[in-house]
Amino acid sequence: VSLSPLLAQGSPPSRQSIADSWLRLLDKANSSVQIAAFYFTLRGGKFADSSDSQGRLVFEQLKGLKSKGVKLQIAVNAPQTSSEDTAELAAAGAEVREVDLQAVTGGIVHTKLWVVDQKHFYLGSANMDWRSLSQVKEVGLSVEDCSCLAQDAARIFGLYWSIGGASKGSLPPYWPARLSALSSSQNPLRLKLNGVPAQVYLSSAPPQISARGRSDDLSTILSVIGDARSFIHISVMDYLPLSQYTEPLRFWPAIDSALRAAACTRGVQVRLLVSCWKHSPAAMFPFLQSLLVLGSPQLKCDINVKMFTVASTAEQMKIPFARVNHAKYMVTDRVVYIGTSNWSENYFTQTAGVGLVVNQTGSVVERGQETLQSQAEELFLRDWMSQYASRLSLDDMDVCPRGPH
Ligand SMILES: *[C@@H]1O[C@H](CO)[C@@H](O)[C@H](O)[C@H]1NC(C)=O
Ligand SMILES: *[C@@H]1O[C@H](CO)[C@@H](O)[C@H](O)[C@H]1NC(C)=O
Ligand SMILES: *[C@@H]1O[C@H](CO)[C@@H](O)[C@H](O)[C@H]1NC(C)=O
Repeated sequence: VSLSPLLAQGSPPSRQSIADSWLRLLDKANSSVQIAAFYFTLRGGKFADSSDSQGRLVFEQLKGLKSKGVKLQIAVNAPQTSSEDTAELAAAGAEVREVDLQAVTGGIVHTKLWVVDQKHFYLGSANMDWRSLSQVKEVGLSVEDCSCLAQDAARIFGLYWSIGGASKGSLPPYWPARLSALSSSQNPLRLKLNGVPAQVYLSSAPPQISARGRSDDLSTILSVIGDARSFIHISVMDYLPLSQYTEPLRFWPAIDSALRAAACTRGVQVRLLVSCWKHSPAAMFPFLQSLLVLGSPQLKCDINVKMFTVASTAEQMKIPFARVNHAKYMVTDRVVYIGTSNWSENYFTQTAGVGLVVNQTGSVVERGQETLQSQAEELFLRDWMSQYASRLSLDDMDVCPRGPH
């Protein structure tokens, strides 16, 4: 198992880059590779230079799978904005299915999930995009030699695959038993990760496209928040207690209320690390400031918010939709949750996404072993204390100015 953050600074050797994890998985592939993705742009096009080299390498490896006798299946969101990569992979023998959720849930496939040989898998924030490997800060988890969990991930993939194979907008009356969840919050898989006993389960959103027994992603996040005893550290790109794509917008307090309750009624320390870039939604900041208000002397709830800005050179600033912290995970004093969704309503009610909970609470940790929780905590604290994170203050009116910066 390895947590794979793409770092703004040098990474400790114990953590792999996402590109390395993907290349490792592709190297291991012996019979099948299944990828669920929002989109594919592994090659830089007009930005092609040394910074898209990792993406191009991944692309070439994917293209070469067929000649190794490995079947490649891709379930990608439809409509694709750029279909060059998937067309070229299809021409090289990949089976590609476009998954159009518009008529089904009104959302998109925002999932980023790999399953290799039904034995290894990857899940995380990184898109199949060259920028995710060199220009955007991401966090993902790759797990090797763990068939039960990989088979469960393959069932989530199988669900997209079947929607992609059906006629547009139709869902079966029920999901076949072969797609039912193999792990859930009620029945987590019990296995060892890096030698340490763990209870692990996958979650998915939205509920309309979850097979029997699958834990709902939002309920999972709420249960992890509810389970925390001393701290909740959250790194998300966007945090909005709102619906985003509805007319009119709705207030959506589910996660927001849970965090307020954790800090103000249970005395849990809450830290939110949210992204600042030129596309940050302006409405996000007053909502975050409303959390900070709870720290006033009358209440003293322990909630803090920092904005993370990825540094850019003038050259890097020219790359669109890059240089941002895109990671989406939460670590508490007990568990770690790694997801693919922004924290706003539509990501849980319409958009397809996945999450993973690793619970090693109470497990014996031998010398030289580390829980995923402690690795994630270390990662969060490094970013939280870094020069790229700045404290949000209550009276700041122009927190993260729009436009180039
Ligand atoms: C790879 O696949 C072949 C044929 O399916 C099989 O005989 C072999 O044992 C597999 N190797 C591994 C390492 O799984
Ligand atoms: C983690 O495991 C402990 C011990 O089994 C359990 O009590 C707790 O509910 C679990 N937490 C989560 C968030 O699943
Ligand atoms: C949420 O995340 C996606 C990519 O993960 C990003 O492109 C989008 O702008 C984010 N925010 C909103 C408001 O949807």
